[in-house]
Amino acid sequence: MTEESKTKEGCCPGCEASEEELLARLDEVISSYKEKPGALIPVLQLAQGIYGYLPEHVLKHIARGMDKPYSEVAGVVGFYSFFSTVPRGRNLIRVCMGTACYVRGGMQVLDALKKELGIDVGETTEDREFSLEVARCFGACGLAPAITINDIVHHRVKPARVNQILAQYSPAEAAEPVAAGAGERSN
Ligand code: FES
Repeated sequence: MTEESKTKEGCCPGCEASEEELLARLDEVISSYKEKPGALIPVLQLAQGIYGYLPEHVLKHIARGMDKPYSEVAGVVGFYSFFSTVPRGRNLIRVCMGTACYVRGGMQVLDALKKELGIDVGETTEDREFSLEVARCFGACGLAPAITINDIVHHRVKPARVNQILAQYSPAEAAEPVAAGAGERSN
């Protein structure tokens, strides 16, 4: 079964911006947060929203703009798994490795996804369609094992059916995305 709910970050085809435009947005973020305590994490989150990931030149720009050592900025990015320094695929898959999901076959789901996509955890498919990550509890333990793909939570995922789930996110299907909050569906 599948239940869907919103959690997505990211961008759509056709809203590409130039490097100058991206940098201007980043500078705007930095100047609005610079004087606030604890601003580094929100700035990094917004920067990742702007760029899709956090390349080195962006981290250096943030360090300069926030008057912080680069090592501190890079250290924060390295500490939190939701930050990525490499480009992610159009679809971000996160497999829950929380206790309930783990004991109910989360590892087998992960193995099936790795095999189906031909990538390991932390990698992106060559066509940049899918990135694969692991995460901790999504709060859906009663319907474990669970995975998220972008803003959708898939419950009670069966390893044998991950190909059917992935097919929903193929470029052809992306033209007709599943409506948010559409409830549960069989996988
Ligand atoms: S342990 Fe996976 S959703 Fe809670």
